[in-house]
Amino acid sequence: MSAVLPADRLVLGVESSCDEMAAAVVRDGRELLSSAVRGQQEVHRPYGGVVPELASRDHVRAVSEVVERALEEAGVRAEDLTGVAVTAGPGLVGSLLVGLSFGKALAWRLGIPCVGVHHLAGHLAAAELAEPALVPPYVGLVVSGGHTALYRIDASSEVACLGATRDDAVGEAFDKVARLLGLPFPGGPAVSRAAEQGDPDAIPLPRPMLGRGGLDFSYSGLKTAVAIEVERRRPLGPRDVADLAASFEAAAVDVLVAKLEQALEQEDVSRAAVVGGVAANRRLRSRVAELARDRGVLAVFPPVALCTDNAAMIAAAGARELARGRRSGLDLGAFSRAPLVATPGVRSARPVA
Ligand code: KG4
Ligand code: ZN
Repeated sequence: MSAVLPADRLVLGVESSCDEMAAAVVRDGRELLSSAVRGQQEVHRPYGGVVPELASRDHVRAVSEVVERALEEAGVRAEDLTGVAVTAGPGLVGSLLVGLSFGKALAWRLGIPCVGVHHLAGHLAAAELAEPALVPPYVGLVVSGGHTALYRIDASSEVACLGATRDDAVGEAFDKVARLLGLPFPGGPAVSRAAEQGDPDAIPLPRPMLGRGGLDFSYSGLKTAVAIEVERRRPLGPRDVADLAASFEAAAVDVLVAKLEQALEQEDVSRAAVVGGVAANRRLRSRVAELARDRGVLAVFPPVALCTDNAAMIAAAGARELARGRRSGLDLGAFSRAPLVATPGVRSARPVA
């Protein structure tokens, strides 16, 4: 009889919380063997934002093909897998259910364990996957379309929320500003590209919550300030668009960098991770790299492909949970909202999905 392999030996990750269907294979929780992502930009572009019903329908059509692609690229058969990790939330429930149902069914057919993963635990795991020197304690800045928050990560099962946005997420602000400037969906990369041609000091914009509000953020006022400047300048020429994009990006990034520095100081730690879709932003990456050099700290950004939604991060986070003996049952459900930590400031284990 062959020896029973540990559950985290070869883990398939499945992620479908928003408009990306993704699958990936990770060996021993550390080695990325494959990462397949299928986006849906062309499906949602005519609407200027993600249409949940269209997202889940497209996921249904894509899921088996994306999982097969991940297995093929990794050079493994489904029968070789020792565990499955799936995003259980937060996200769009209809979207989540597609990956979740597929992952649970596959694990059941193969007779291997399945574990539900919190999407934000996945984003943080992407940084640990990218840089083995990133060990707790460290500060994690999560910046995505749905979240903007700072965490302190102690032993891998202990996470405390240090601060979060009181209104819009920073990625959401990028997306809304893109729309105001007439830039195409998805907004973040488009604003960032336009900003490269503009002057970040051209238009004075507020830095909300800078120097106050502890480690909390606020992005809806900044978006409104951009809307007012847009109205004032209509009709917008290419110069206006570039300057507004650059000025907005500078304001948004200034606050993120300042709060990250404040968190490092307050928590007295020397390692940081910046993760989530907005971590793909070039200005943020270079400003944080500067901060890290100045303070002599380690600042880790996942490679751009692992900043935006992907399944490698889910497989990596899931592998750790499987190694700790965590298992989810077939009754595992999707959830649309749930904090990574139940109460800000209270240290607790990552919630069992
Ligand atoms: O993590 P993610 O792929 O999905 C969520 O979990 O939300 O993040 C998507 C967000 C979007 O708001 C998108 O506009 C933003 O990340 N984003 C960027 C860049 N690339 C993606 N924002 C600024 N600059 C970028 N280069
Ligand atoms: Zn995400």
